[in-house]
Amino acid sequence: MKILITGGCGFIGANLAFQLKQLGGYELVIIDNETLGKREYVEGSGAKVHIGDIRDKDLLVKLMDGVDAVVHLAADTRVMDSIEDPQFNFDVNVVGTFNILTAMREAGVKRIINASTGGAILGEVEPPVNEDMLPNPLSPYGAAKLCAEGYLSAFTGSYGFNAVSLRFSNVYGPRSYHKGSVVAEFFKRILNGEELIVYGDGEQTRDYVYIDDLCDGIVQGLTRDVSGPYQLGTGRGISINQLIDMMREVAGADYKVLTRHEPDRAGEILRSYCDISKAQKTLGYDPKMVLEQGLSETWDWFKTTHSTS
Ligand SMILES: NC(=O)c1ccc[n+]([C@@H]2O[C@H](COP(=O)([O-])OP(=O)(O)OC[C@H]3O[C@@H](n4cnc5c(N)ncnc54)[C@H](O)[C@@H]3O)[C@@H](O)[C@H]2O)c1
Repeated sequence: MKILITGGCGFIGANLAFQLKQLGGYELVIIDNETLGKREYVEGSGAKVHIGDIRDKDLLVKLMDGVDAVVHLAADTRVMDSIEDPQFNFDVNVVGTFNILTAMREAGVKRIINASTGGAILGEVEPPVNEDMLPNPLSPYGAAKLCAEGYLSAFTGSYGFNAVSLRFSNVYGPRSYHKGSVVAEFFKRILNGEELIVYGDGEQTRDYVYIDDLCDGIVQGLTRDVSGPYQLGTGRGISINQLIDMMREVAGADYKVLTRHEPDRAGEILRSYCDISKAQKTLGYDPKMVLEQGLSETWDWFKTTHSTS
């Protein structure tokens, strides 16, 4: 199976490339403009890397040659950046996704897995987050991801695509040093002897899913005749305070874990975790990693690859 991974040099893409290599039977092509990921992150995965931009439709059409499925991960991923520059976010996340779908249509490629999000599309909702909730995006990032899902649905209805949107919760794991997400940010700070910043009382909850479980979900989506949105997470909400306690345990006595409290951030969702029953039933999605163990694997990777001591 020949797969084109957009944004394949990033955190999720690089892990997916190595997982698919291990599974065997996949030929991988990556397009990434290296704004955040780097070609070196996938060295050894066997993927053929094209440095290029998903806003370049002509390049996408060329890369579709012989492709069986697309995993679309490339995006302007930061909510705050999208609030500052909604036009740029629209160009990459909406026009870029539309380019991919139309390039696929021209090349006769009909299968796509699209990286989406529950939280940013739905806004403030009572957890558990599920696929039947009414969208209410509060940021341009969320609006763009919702728009992308609209086009996936349209290409399923109009052109017979198998178009799956996987709504990721908070993903963590190795190869995430360049990320600003909470686990990556906290481990970087612990390594550098810096305080962890906790907004509010630290009781806000999130659903943390380990990268290998998430990649399993992507692989399942690649092999089934399904379409539509699926929430991928663990189904469990963990507070920042609980997370820090686990990270302290994992880092061990050689590293001091200090925290500093700052006021609540305006607009921050307080409680979030997701209902994964649709993905379990239809995709055979089955997250296995226990958070403590996943944090330990992530910490080992951070220490081995980025420790200065
Ligand atoms: N990591 C998470 O917790 C999480 C949660 C929800 C959704 N997602 C979605 O998953 C996808 C992958 O996220 P990630 O965590 O691997 O992020 P990442 O930033 O590590 O990877 C994204 C990759 O896309 C590339 N890219 C950005 N703009 C591009 C463009 N115009 N053309 C080509 N390449 C471009 C970047 O260089 C980077 O390598 C994104 O769509 C993101 O919105 C991630």
